Amino acid sequence: MFKQTPPMGWNSWNTFGKDINEQVIRETADAMVDRGFLAAGYEYIVIDDCWSLRERDKDGHIVADPEKFPSGMKALADYVHSKGLKFGMYSCDGPKTCAGYPGSFDHEFTDAHDFAEIGIDYLKYDNCYRPSYMPARVLYNRMSMALKSTGRDILFSACNWGEENVENWIRSTGAGLYRSTSDIYDSLGSFSEILFSQLEKMGSVGPGCFNDLDMLICGMHGKGNVAEGEHQGCTKEQYALHFALWAFMASPLMLGCDVRTVDDETVKMLTNPELIKINQDIEARPPFVMHSYPGHVMLLRHLANDEYAFGLFVFSDWERELVTEFAETGLSPSCGYGFHFKDIITGEDIGIVTDDVYMKNIPPFSYKIWRGKIEKA
Ligand code: GLA
Repeated sequence: MFKQTPPMGWNSWNTFGKDINEQVIRETADAMVDRGFLAAGYEYIVIDDCWSLRERDKDGHIVADPEKFPSGMKALADYVHSKGLKFGMYSCDGPKTCAGYPGSFDHEFTDAHDFAEIGIDYLKYDNCYRPSYMPARVLYNRMSMALKSTGRDILFSACNWGEENVENWIRSTGAGLYRSTSDIYDSLGSFSEILFSQLEKMGSVGPGCFNDLDMLICGMHGKGNVAEGEHQGCTKEQYALHFALWAFMASPLMLGCDVRTVDDETVKMLTNPELIKINQDIEARPPFVMHSYPGHVMLLRHLANDEYAFGLFVFSDWERELVTEFAETGLSPSCGYGFHFKDIITGEDIGIVTDDVYMKNIPPFSYKIWRGKIEKA
């Protein structure tokens, strides 16, 4: 499937890990609709690893675990579709998935056709246990072709954690999104490490293929499957920063929290129409990096209709004073033109900025996003 803008949805891994079952997925589908996520654009429900039995059946097919999914995957897909959502599943390019369930290596066409029969719209394809003689490039291309051979429109989500310079070849395999880093955990350290590792690697992002910075941890607060060791949750401000960044970076937005129980304030943050509008900009261009320091990053996005978004993202835990040098965008202060920006969160008219803008009292772990056009100064 070719998507013009970054895919949005929910994935089971961050919260549930191996503890998935059809009731959880049905209730999640209900919550996606009832709590406004679908209306905000989150359309995919993706079941990650651990959905099957440990062995294929005698005819070589993967079998859904009947204890976890007593009604079968087709019935579940039908239910998800009946809610107006799309249904996604998971496999792997090696003979086993990361959690040790059957992977699709050498069974790609059988599995792709089985998935299509279930009625999937999305396949996340992992990279564990891949035989060392097979380049990921070839196996991702193989599964992509297997999915296409089914005739069903399936979005192919490649998950090879940024290995083999994935950004250089993934678009050529027909994948619609690609994981570029190792797994996210529930902490500021984890999401900021992902961000900084990708800032300079966004060049191939655009309609049809997106850099997946991994599922969102917003609203998890140290609960679930990705809290361990030092990764014990974030503050509300840090989750807001994380979400604004993923939106601004044109990353796929895959929710990872328990959408059935997450608090209303987090729902509001995750469905912020202004942030989603930037994420879903139809031109889907990667950000232009004005500068990046460990304590803060300034980015510019070219948007459709000659608009721009400017983003300041602060990673330090003290109040800051900062100067935004718009000359860093290439706009010379003497050219006679400037950005006429509005703050997308407060609605404040910033006026026409041509040069340095001094900003005081910038709270720790905060962000500012301004949006507008270039006008005569
Ligand atoms: C890998 C992936 C994760 C998740 C797990 C499941 O680690 O990167 O996103 O799918 O496997 O086992």
